[in-house]
Amino acid sequence: MAKKKKKKLPKKKTLTPAEEARRIAKLTKRGQSECVEVRGSEIHGRGVYATRDIEVEEHVIEYVGNFIDKEESERRAWALYEESEKTGGAAVYIFNVSKKWDLDGDVEWNPARLINHSCDPNCEAAQAKKRIYISATRPIKKDEEITFDYGFDADSYADHPCLCGSPKCIGYIVGKDHLKKFRKLQKKAKAEAESVAEE
Ligand SMILES: C[S@@+](CC[C@H](N)C(=O)[O-])C[C@H]1O[C@@H](n2cnc3c(N)ncnc32)[C@H](O)[C@@H]1O
Ligand SMILES: [Zn+2]
Repeated sequence: MAKKKKKKLPKKKTLTPAEEARRIAKLTKRGQSECVEVRGSEIHGRGVYATRDIEVEEHVIEYVGNFIDKEESERRAWALYEESEKTGGAAVYIFNVSKKWDLDGDVEWNPARLINHSCDPNCEAAQAKKRIYISATRPIKKDEEITFDYGFDADSYADHPCLCGSPKCIGYIVGKDHLKKFRKLQKKAKAEAESVAEE
């Protein structure tokens, strides 16, 4: 029987400081956009605002960051979750890009990380090959805040009050795909509060 050839794993390349600086400079440039800028937000902290009218489906800004494998992604996601339990914050920075890789955008050279959530967002995160773009889901007027749906599940909705200010605001940061469960949990919590009040 022929001897099986040992599969060679690709070597993880360690970049020199100069190479790393060039990598960051390249990503920083890619993460900039001529149609938005960072300003103080009425929703929360800093946000991203349109500096001109933006058409539907236009790429507003690229969401840049570092590629991490799924194991590292899981570890970072838990760390963010634990922090959010302590602070009540609701940060979302990690995007799934392939079976193997996720993209962690929690880096200061990624202004798109400052985009706030809205219950009636004007953008969505769309993937093209291994890149993530924030693109407009409807026409956006100059000076409008750029928002997208954080897609949070309903389980810990009470920890994440929403301040998006939209007439469609449901009061909490919950993704549109989790609204059914959210309504159920809210109904249950209301019934429990009423039965306690009756005692
Ligand atoms: C990914 S950051 C967004 C940038 C943030 N505004 C900042 O200045 O760092 C996520 C943080 O913004 C807050 N945030 C985002 N959207 C929000 C909303 N609709 N209502 C309340 N807080 C929001 C969350 O609580 C979380 O702490
Ligand atoms: Zn809202």
